Amino acid sequence: MRAVELFAGAGGMSLGLRRAGFDLVQAYDSWSPAVETYRRNVSHHVWQHDLKDIFHVAPMIVALAPDIIVGGPPCQDFSAAGERVEGERAALTRAFAMLVTLARPTWFLMENVPQAASSKAWADARAMLVKADYGLTEVKLNASFYGVPQARKRLFVIGRLGEANGFLDSTLAAARSTRPMTVRDMLGDALGDAFYAQPRMPGRHGIWSADGPAPTMCRSSRRPMPASYQPHPADADLLERGAFYTRPYYEGRGVRTLDEPAPSVIRTTRERPRPKYLASPHHADPIPASQAAILTQDQVARIQGFPIGWDWSAACSRDIDQMIANAVPAPLAEAIGRVILARQAGESIPGIQGRFGQWLRLRRGFSKAAVRNCKSRANRARRLLGGRTFADVAMELATLEATEGFSTLPTGTRSDLRAALRLLREWQAEPKARRKGKEKAAAEVAALAA
Ligand SMILES: C[S@@+](CC[C@H](N)C(=O)[O-])C[C@H]1O[C@@H](n2cnc3c(N)ncnc32)[C@H](O)[C@@H]1O
Repeated sequence: MRAVELFAGAGGMSLGLRRAGFDLVQAYDSWSPAVETYRRNVSHHVWQHDLKDIFHVAPMIVALAPDIIVGGPPCQDFSAAGERVEGERAALTRAFAMLVTLARPTWFLMENVPQAASSKAWADARAMLVKADYGLTEVKLNASFYGVPQARKRLFVIGRLGEANGFLDSTLAAARSTRPMTVRDMLGDALGDAFYAQPRMPGRHGIWSADGPAPTMCRSSRRPMPASYQPHPADADLLERGAFYTRPYYEGRGVRTLDEPAPSVIRTTRERPRPKYLASPHHADPIPASQAAILTQDQVARIQGFPIGWDWSAACSRDIDQMIANAVPAPLAEAIGRVILARQAGESIPGIQGRFGQWLRLRRGFSKAAVRNCKSRANRARRLLGGRTFADVAMELATLEATEGFSTLPTGTRSDLRAALRLLREWQAEPKARRKGKEKAAAEVAALAA
């Protein structure tokens, strides 16, 4: 799928999507350190431009004809750390929606802080996208369940033309790991997906990610990891102390062990504990803050999903901290990207979530076996539809009729599949509260009859 990225930053989201298999054809950002960092690490197809200037940008994007537009518009106006006054930066969420509705790609993917979900800017953007016929999946995902050692919660909105809302909910939930990733996992993993390159200067990193820009390589650099390899001194120090300090939000805990995910990375994550914190530490700190490690910029970047060797040399230290904090962690973007590509290829179908079976039993009088049959027929119909759901039920049934695999089925099977899909949509269309009330009444009637 051809992707255009808006608000591309230092390239965290691009890196993840490219790993998933997307072709990133163009990226935009207005901030020169980010544009230069993106150019050095991801691609030359990055353009410095103010995306408020829709008048100039929209025709370019329309001409590129992307299959998907992705982007994380600025979040400061919504974020917990900010003042939450919706100003010009919040308006860029509307600009994102405007550019999507003008270019009308089949898909879009937008990232923001969870607080954006209840903003006026998102309400306006959402209305535009719905009017333009996008079905929406709106989810808050915790990065630590998607290969990132960080409890970072973010809002992701995925849109696809013509879909029913929630069309990717179950598939994203299925992609979640069973346990969160910890910082210790990350320190161990560095050896897994990386290769060893002989450090050319003492104390420099010897491990480089396979898809990050490597140090100047010669063939002899690739050799098995020697048993004598010592971790970088900063990693060795972190492992030895077993805990690190990060500036807490409000009254939160400052010291974390390596056996939990790091808290959400912000620009000031690697600040030393202030005298106020040292004087009145959090009661649950596993070790005193004064003894905890202070993360290096390189470690913070890795916790945010950037590979070792990402070239930050275009920016000053403060700007690097900002770019790292801004990013979508690449492993999370990769996981979402894979879910999108699998659905596009018809390799996944939405799962039947909730109490459809109970509804069939109580409201339609289905036996257990009939419920099982109905569910498996609905799933079969969805597989024939290549995982597509449609905002319009009539359109869904018409598309099913038109699929090649459907028309060759025996008449009885076709009618069973149609009926199962209709029932599923009927159940989904019923407002949850009314559904629950009716189920309760039906259960009471059934109990009386028994
Ligand atoms: C949240 S960051 C995006 C980070 C990116 N998704 C990543 O994974 O690295 C938002 C980006 O929007 C950019 N930005 C802010 N205002 C802009 C504008 N008016 N036009 C274009 N880009 C803008 C900022 O420079 C910043 O890099």
